[in-house]
Amino acid sequence: CGIIGYAGTKNAHGVLIDGLKALEYRGYDSSGLAVFTQGKINTVKAQGKIKNLEALLKEDIGTCGIAHTRWATHGEANVVNAHPHTIGMVTLVHNGIIENADELRQTYQQKGIIFVSNTDTETAAALLNDFVSQGMNKIDACLRAGKYLKGSYALAILFADEPETIYAMRKDSPLILGLSDDGNYVASDVSAFLKATNKILELEEHEVVRLTRSQVEIFNQQGKAERDWHTSCRELSGLDKNGFDSYLLKEIHEQPLAIKRTLAAYMNESFDDFETLMPDLTTVDFIYFVACGSACHAGMLAKHWFEKLAHIRCACECASEFRYGNPPLDQNTLVVLISQSGETADTLAALRMCRKKGIKTVAIVNVEGSSIAKEADVYLPTLAGIEVSVATTKAYTCQVAVLTLFCIHAAIQRHQLPIKDQKQLLADLNRLPALMADLIRNDTISQFADQIGDAHNVFFIGRGLDYAQSLEGSLKLKEISYIHSEAYAAGELKHGTISLIEAGTPVLALISDAALAAKTFSNMAEVKARGAKLLLVIREDLYQHQTGMDTHLKLPKVHPLLQGIISIIPYQLLAYHLAKRHGCDLDQPRNLAKSVTVE
Ligand code: G6P
Repeated sequence: CGIIGYAGTKNAHGVLIDGLKALEYRGYDSSGLAVFTQGKINTVKAQGKIKNLEALLKEDIGTCGIAHTRWATHGEANVVNAHPHTIGMVTLVHNGIIENADELRQTYQQKGIIFVSNTDTETAAALLNDFVSQGMNKIDACLRAGKYLKGSYALAILFADEPETIYAMRKDSPLILGLSDDGNYVASDVSAFLKATNKILELEEHEVVRLTRSQVEIFNQQGKAERDWHTSCRELSGLDKNGFDSYLLKEIHEQPLAIKRTLAAYMNESFDDFETLMPDLTTVDFIYFVACGSACHAGMLAKHWFEKLAHIRCACECASEFRYGNPPLDQNTLVVLISQSGETADTLAALRMCRKKGIKTVAIVNVEGSSIAKEADVYLPTLAGIEVSVATTKAYTCQVAVLTLFCIHAAIQRHQLPIKDQKQLLADLNRLPALMADLIRNDTISQFADQIGDAHNVFFIGRGLDYAQSLEGSLKLKEISYIHSEAYAAGELKHGTISLIEAGTPVLALISDAALAAKTFSNMAEVKARGAKLLLVIREDLYQHQTGMDTHLKLPKVHPLLQGIISIIPYQLLAYHLAKRHGCDLDQPRNLAKSVTVE
């Protein structure tokens, strides 16, 4: 979910709607705002995208208010559950999850409070309302509420008896303050107010802020906190579609440039800079790659290469499992967290768990200044630029690129990479952006989309690296086109899942590794024999004429270590073509959020 609050001289509706649009990547199930109009709080809420809320707004002269865009956790995505929520004097918006909501709800129901929504958020409003009704001043009420609320929260609050003032508080969910001549801001992410100001301050855990048009005061348990403002390094660029029909397609096309920029940040004509830029791995004997969604697939590719090339034992786990799996961690373990946004709740929690245990951490993150980038011991940036489309493309390939460079560094440090290989890698890294651009322009993939047509089930198969990439290809298809698909290790399909293959079931096979090609060809034959429609993406030099092959697309041959940076491109484009044919929302697929800030 995304929060913005503004107290200033400009029309609040305009500022809040602009802010919500910038935050829409955090969820778009429903939205709402509350503005002080002539001393009274005026709340408007709508189901669905922010444009629905905008359509409901009537002229309003208010200049102070709070707003929210929601990704539903507790309670269905409807108007009643949309934020803001009001109990008594308190109107608030919330990002996070109040874990003791049931208990609070019971307590306040017994005291006669009537809850109208199914959200956990309303219980925070009840708690604050209770404290201020007892005569407690607002700052003390917020600080005290912070002690009662379990779970995570970023809250922006209006009190009915204190017009033109916003209170906000946080724990485990970010809040950034912005200072400008036209007023002051509080938001989940700086992008919500970057057009107005880049003078910012990140609210710390458990702090409470009181914000008016002319003043921003921060408090903690010790009293008033003195904090320094600084300049945000985030850029506004990237928010234009540049003639493409979607951010998704634009971002797919931006990949050659994003990769070029990312590579340039780490190397020149050699790998010499690695020594200073990359973490020292001499004492590391185990690496955990930990991430969510696509970033986890990037981690799987990395695991494959770190083991094969650098001979370091590795594991890759999704962050929500890693945290509670009680993983064996010691001083020689390195944990690599991968995240586009740097704010994914599970990944952040996994990082904090490692830090608490004194385990070394590296973060591969696209958003500079984000929580994960700031809190890890070493930060390795990806330079994909702002990614707007919910389905990640360029940030993913940049993650794979940085992980690849990291692996080259590990292999060099462990004397596992002969000079001959290093030279070939350098030459191929230079060629990579141009090869990617050619592949993006290759129209063969639209024929794959024709062949898949209205299929309800699609299978992706591959071995080794190609299996990890198949998982990402399958995820892309599911998230954007809503077509059910499964990715399988090619050799594993026959152990059960092959029963789902019927005449005409599309099976996409990926072959980019010479050592595994023959085996995957056999697995293709097995599904073909059962009537599957076979579609093959294959490294150009490995292609052999296969009888019964329905369609194929050739990938350029590069050093095997780099193959993973390009082999996902056809699958990204396939998902795009199918989603477009099915009339799906290309940039904001249903039920998803780009950055999931709840666990
Ligand atoms: C969400 C997005 C995915 C993304 C995942 C991890 O679920 O929809 O596309 O891969 O979060 O996000 P992160 O920002 O940590 O890479």
